[in-house]
Amino acid sequence: MQIRPRRNRKNKAIRAFAQETHLSVDNLIYPIFVYDGKGIKNEVKSLPGNFRWSLDMLLPEIEQCLKLGINTYVIFPAVAEELKDKIASYSYAEENFYLHILRKLKETFPEICLMTDVAMDPYSSDGHDGYVNDKGEIVNDTSLPILAKMAVAQAQAGADILGPSDMMDGRVGFIREALDIAGFTDVSIMSYTAKYASAFYGPFRDALDSAPKSGDKKTYQMNPANSREALIEASLDVQEGADFLMVKPALPYLDIIALLKQNFEQPIAAYNVSGECAMLTAACQNGWLNFEKAMPEMLMSIRRAGADVILTYFAKAYAEMVKEGKIGQW
Ligand code: PBG
Repeated sequence: MQIRPRRNRKNKAIRAFAQETHLSVDNLIYPIFVYDGKGIKNEVKSLPGNFRWSLDMLLPEIEQCLKLGINTYVIFPAVAEELKDKIASYSYAEENFYLHILRKLKETFPEICLMTDVAMDPYSSDGHDGYVNDKGEIVNDTSLPILAKMAVAQAQAGADILGPSDMMDGRVGFIREALDIAGFTDVSIMSYTAKYASAFYGPFRDALDSAPKSGDKKTYQMNPANSREALIEASLDVQEGADFLMVKPALPYLDIIALLKQNFEQPIAAYNVSGECAMLTAACQNGWLNFEKAMPEMLMSIRRAGADVILTYFAKAYAEMVKEGKIGQW
């Protein structure tokens, strides 16, 4: 035999030379759920290890995560039912607690990078990402100005990156224009470009109590059977000014991450969604998988597929493992 691939695996030092992909804490974004009130740290039952935080409880947590090297946080609001309406008006209301929390985070930690989600569902009495008419249809063009108002309000509150997750047509361009007119030319857009109508968002909807009140999201989120369609979505988002293209979920869609990476120059993000994390956590809690081995392997697969940025509920656990010297020895 002339070629023995095993030689490049014979010890740790050589395996490290031959390692093609690396995953650092710099690649991670940590999703956080926030709640109005005081003294609240309320665990999401279907997503163990993740909480709904009130601002006072969140500040020390963020301080600790920043020390672990996590720079970027995507913040999601759990909004009280009585504040929800058909036009998601609370999303841009003056007294909105979420916008207040964003401001406080920026004030307290000027170095923090904050990402927000642009979609109507946490604020909508219908639980949909866009405006729902009398016939139960999600109306694209009525939703755009609402999303734009929400986007500008988030930028005013200090968001560095906006994540339109609503999947309405034309929303990236519409939001870009509204941001630019309002003077926020430096605020970035990480578009949920290929967001699938997935069953893996369940724990997230539990966390925010944001599940659709009727119907499903199949008229706007993508069909899990499609990949070429992701190229159409990506071309549009690029034309409309997206700075990052996101694929969501991540694990069941690694092929889509690779496809966008091959076809576009923008950095690619992937959202390792709540259901993926819940699935792994449950298996580990049962003793069926080893968390410290399976979790980094899961994140590495997403990075290997081509993701430059990974949004993951495991960001803190991964950063802690790095700090403890448990990462980097494959
Ligand atoms: C809101 C939104 C969802 C997620 C992120 N933004 C849920 C949905 O579209 O129903 C899911 C994230 C996760 O499951 O971790 N549009």
